[in-house]
Amino acid sequence: MSWNVFVTRPIPQPGIDILTDHCSRVDINADDRVLTKEELLREVKGRDGVLCLLTDTIDEEVLNTAQSVGIFANHAVGFNNIDIDAATRLGIMVTNTPGVLTDATADLTWALILATARRIAESDRFTRDGKYKGWGPMLMLGNAVSGTTLGIVGAGRIGTAVAMRSVGFNMRILYTDTVPNETMEKALRGDRVTLEELLGQSDFVTLHVPLLPETTHLIGSRELELMKKTAFLINTCRGPVVNEKALVNALRSETIAGAALDVYENEPELEPGLTEQKNIVLVPHIGSATVTARTKMAVIAAENLIAGLKGDRPPNLVNPEVLEDKKT
Ligand code: DGY
Repeated sequence: MSWNVFVTRPIPQPGIDILTDHCSRVDINADDRVLTKEELLREVKGRDGVLCLLTDTIDEEVLNTAQSVGIFANHAVGFNNIDIDAATRLGIMVTNTPGVLTDATADLTWALILATARRIAESDRFTRDGKYKGWGPMLMLGNAVSGTTLGIVGAGRIGTAVAMRSVGFNMRILYTDTVPNETMEKALRGDRVTLEELLGQSDFVTLHVPLLPETTHLIGSRELELMKKTAFLINTCRGPVVNEKALVNALRSETIAGAALDVYENEPELEPGLTEQKNIVLVPHIGSATVTARTKMAVIAAENLIAGLKGDRPPNLVNPEVLEDKKT
């Protein structure tokens, strides 16, 4: 077909293959970096579709410039980087890649729970620095994970998958969500509680909410104060859900025992003071960074894009109102 599409950064080849099989022109930003606003504005012009990433800010200006673009296929489950209201108003479809990164992100959440509780990053630095002089009864004592309470904030796909993985650790599950979750309640005998109750009772608080106005700074100084002094905070969802200034203060003053972050409030900038805390594990937004997950994300994003170009309803359309508007 004579479709002309743009991919904002290299993605796994199977996704590109789908695009080249269906489109007459596929241009890829070959530099492995985020495009500047100017470059993005230039590249989206005259395209039929764009496959974009969570690091691309697709705001009203970009959408207005992308007059001919019928669909932005985001290579991510989150789509807070796209102005959905403006896209809908302009009749542009937006899609995401749910499901295929659930396991990878849940696995990473567990890696972070264990790393922070058992001081893995700190122990690694200690050993590399030549400080290990032999086994010691008081060396690097951490916190138990088995038999403790896991508090899940946001019981969607990823939150539920994190909870499922707790079974071998014999944990009590608390969760908070706007709606009850059957797996949490029946399979895991979890209790749905208020955020305040969850914060007060959990040994590990793990965040799995989408970034929305209501979830921005969901965890600030008041919430950190409500947590146990011995508890840990894990964030693998979106950085702005946590007020990072408040987190640095809480770690400094030992209001909580520690934290682990995969995502940051102003990615890739880190809040001053964050790296000075030894009771925090920091990783660079790698929740979905497995070959399996990223390949599936690329394929799904490409399939969504092609479906949209064909005039079909893409399987993972996040603004279905756009089709309703077209009908009327
Ligand atoms: C997503 O898809 O939203 C993840 O954050 C990517 O790693």
